Amino acid sequence: MYADRVLSGMRPTGALHLGHYHGVLKNWVKIQHEFECLFMVADWHALTTHYDATVGLETHVWEMVVDWLSAGVDPNQATLFIQSRVPEHAELHLLLSMVTPVGWLERVPTYKEQQQKLADRDLSSYGFLGYPLLQAADILLYRANRVPVGEDQVPHIEFAREVARRFNHFYGREPDFEQHALRAAAKLGHKKSRLFLDFRVRYTERGEAEALLSARELLAEAQNLSLGDRERLFGYLEGNGKQILSEPHALLTEAARLPGLDGQKMSKSYGNTLPLRVDEGTLRRKIAGMKTDEARQLRTDPGEPTRCPVYAYHRLYSNAETLEWVEEGCRTAGIGCVQCKQPVADAIWAELRPLNERADLYREDPTLVRNLLADGCERARQLASDTLREVREAMGLLYG
Ligand code: TRP
Ligand code: SF4
Repeated sequence: MYADRVLSGMRPTGALHLGHYHGVLKNWVKIQHEFECLFMVADWHALTTHYDATVGLETHVWEMVVDWLSAGVDPNQATLFIQSRVPEHAELHLLLSMVTPVGWLERVPTYKEQQQKLADRDLSSYGFLGYPLLQAADILLYRANRVPVGEDQVPHIEFAREVARRFNHFYGREPDFEQHALRAAAKLGHKKSRLFLDFRVRYTERGEAEALLSARELLAEAQNLSLGDRERLFGYLEGNGKQILSEPHALLTEAARLPGLDGQKMSKSYGNTLPLRVDEGTLRRKIAGMKTDEARQLRTDPGEPTRCPVYAYHRLYSNAETLEWVEEGCRTAGIGCVQCKQPVADAIWAELRPLNERADLYREDPTLVRNLLADGCERARQLASDTLREVREAMGLLYG
């Protein structure tokens, strides 16, 4: 239960593009083999900024999941689910809101940034302010300790960590905590219990990070512990109290940044994307229209690849030989831009063609997607209700 678990989410804001593919999806496809993964359609999060435009939402959700699947996200490896189908997210969000100072939310950097960036929208809502808390609930609900996110979301993960800590601080205290913890340790068996206590001393008194890791591993592998004892021991290890909600960490993905067709950041709102779902003709036309180094007005003008978005694509798609051909040919005006774009268009189409074929299969049989999401939602709910039971108990809301 405390082994590595990953949760990530995406807002269903429309058809995905090549930036999503290289920035997020390829990474999901990779880590689904390395960790237990939960991938969530963050439809409530979409409402925080687009509460007035819910008409297309449902279509966006299905289409986005088709994009995930076509890109190789495997429902047999990972759990795919829709946030709003697991109402436990809302309950945990509400309970956490009781212990979350408003000032913490106001200080999350994305709050003011997004308000400025999306100045045409009224983002003075309660829901928008609470965006990071809802995200914290998403993560803490599954006790996910790793969250793959881009740089911009790191403050949200830190925020989730602080909320978890504050919650544990209030509700993880119990009278005679140490005695309970020692009794729980004894249940590990003589040898393991001595080992555990030794690791704990080495960590708390000498700060040996490795001892902390070893102790966590030992607990993760222990079979015969109740959930409560496990929480006690995880908490005891770091000295405070029961660890009901575990603290998540960002799993930073160093994805190559793929510029949009005009060289700016690829984004739907700039209208400069290459959509994942596209036919060959459209794709080639879009690439033909891509901006190049402005120095190359005439075919005979030499250019500088590092100033050209096409070159950024070459760096992602081309081998060393082709890269050299581009660098040399561009700087000496030996090749033209039309020629230079050709291998990029070929490579992207080679990548997107099978993806589009898979997408067609999923679209032909919509029940397939609905069924696998129903399974995913059910599984997510089970995990979520386990956590919520603990949370309610810790807060004295069981009424048993
Ligand atoms: N905020 C994320 C984004 O905009 C989406 C998201 C919602 C998320 N809940 C999450 C990401 C939980 C990671 C974990 O991309
Ligand atoms: Fe860009 Fe290639 Fe044209 Fe150079 S030759 S400006 S790298 S498209």
